[in-house]
Amino acid sequence: MGRLEWSPELSLGQPELDDQHKELIRIANGLINAVSIGRRKRTVENVIRKLREYTVFHFVREESLMEQIRFPGRADHMAEHVRLKLSVKNYQRKLYEHEHVRANDVLDFMTEWLLGHILTFDRDFAVYMTALDETAKAERSESSEVVEAGNEGVPTTSDNE
Ligand SMILES: [Fe+2]
Repeated sequence: MGRLEWSPELSLGQPELDDQHKELIRIANGLINAVSIGRRKRTVENVIRKLREYTVFHFVREESLMEQIRFPGRADHMAEHVRLKLSVKNYQRKLYEHEHVRANDVLDFMTEWLLGHILTFDRDFAVYMTALDETAKAERSESSEVVEAGNEGVPTTSDNE
């Protein structure tokens, strides 16, 4: 049976988000597994509910980070989160209403739904975040050089948004 696999390609270089994505992959694999071994409807329901709950938690966290750093693409990214929440909700209904859903169908859905998002929207956000981190680091080392040269109090231009 196929399952989702974490790979370095999925890493955003942001440990907190990477860990949350790994957890989502773990729960999604639990769902694929529950469907493939023909677990009772109630078990499948519990797993997908857990997936939806963790998704909400994770999206809230991502959105607050986007807000914090004023990520320019945040409106589109948040709209995509709304779409993803709706699509997993619809998928939950499909699992509930259809007696025979194949594990491969769940795998395909999760691949597109989760990995597809990480590799596109989340990647754009992470690239922006990493660039900001690097700029901040560079500014810090520049200002420490200034201090070393005895030019304390020289105003730096930043935060001019
Ligand atoms: Fe996201």
